[in-house]
Amino acid sequence: MVVIDGKALAKTVREDLKEEVDELREKGIVPKFAVILVGDDKASLTYVKSKNKACRELGIEYEEIILDSNIEMQELLDIIDNLNERKDITGILLQSPIPDHLDINKAFKRISPEKDVDGFNPANVGKLCLNQDTFISCTPYGILKIFEAYGIDVDGKNAVVIGRSNIVGKPMSMCLLNKNATITICHSKTKNLKEITKEADILIAAIGKKHFVTADMVKEGAVVIDVGINRTDEGIFGDVDFDNVKEKTSFITPVPGGVGPMTVAMLMKNIVKATKALNSSDNL
Ligand code: GUN
Repeated sequence: MVVIDGKALAKTVREDLKEEVDELREKGIVPKFAVILVGDDKASLTYVKSKNKACRELGIEYEEIILDSNIEMQELLDIIDNLNERKDITGILLQSPIPDHLDINKAFKRISPEKDVDGFNPANVGKLCLNQDTFISCTPYGILKIFEAYGIDVDGKNAVVIGRSNIVGKPMSMCLLNKNATITICHSKTKNLKEITKEADILIAAIGKKHFVTADMVKEGAVVIDVGINRTDEGIFGDVDFDNVKEKTSFITPVPGGVGPMTVAMLMKNIVKATKALNSSDNL
């Protein structure tokens, strides 16, 4: 059994990117990332802080736009339009969740596909479904990088994704399909969940419930990837009951230190990709 070290892998991704950013800067090209945060969601503030830190380390410029939770939709759209138009901005991210009175789908759609480093614009989601070059959303992209780095072959495998969110479950499933896995997407209405997960060669847990995946749900020798970040008074826990599940697996990601650091590293990779494409005639 191998415990995947997402922190170490993320560091090597960032080191490689640092060289690319330095090369761009030598040519007078400076990546600049804009993050929009609406309201003061605690988890979002933590995520945004780690994005800022990663940018600082890599020499990517960073601009944070913090908006009052009472902002109107039109104002948010105007801010996105302005960032789309600005030549210095090469990547834009709207941190989710945003308050309920705002339409997140409309906002994601407004972000220029060329600067959509989160991969949430429907045009980029469509490209992912068509297996075309695009910005793959950062968590699934980080998991693909883990598979590559650890030599985990996806081709022909039974992959089960628990969770159908637009941020993780759906794009993850498309990524696995594009790599020739046979995919099953499970969610809150799925019947006989355990029977399905027990057939998984690759099991992705993206539910958002502490220790939801227990040892009896896991096939011997499975690869188990835990996307959960469940904050409690006792600390941060994954969606997988790690201590009891790990011995059954061939590879498993811990929480923290598994998928989380990879998400931020792949966001940086998408920012560098966007910067290069925006400065080339060969746009995405
Ligand atoms: N909130 C939680 N994860 C994410 C993410 O990957 N992107 C955005 N924009 N918001 C998030």
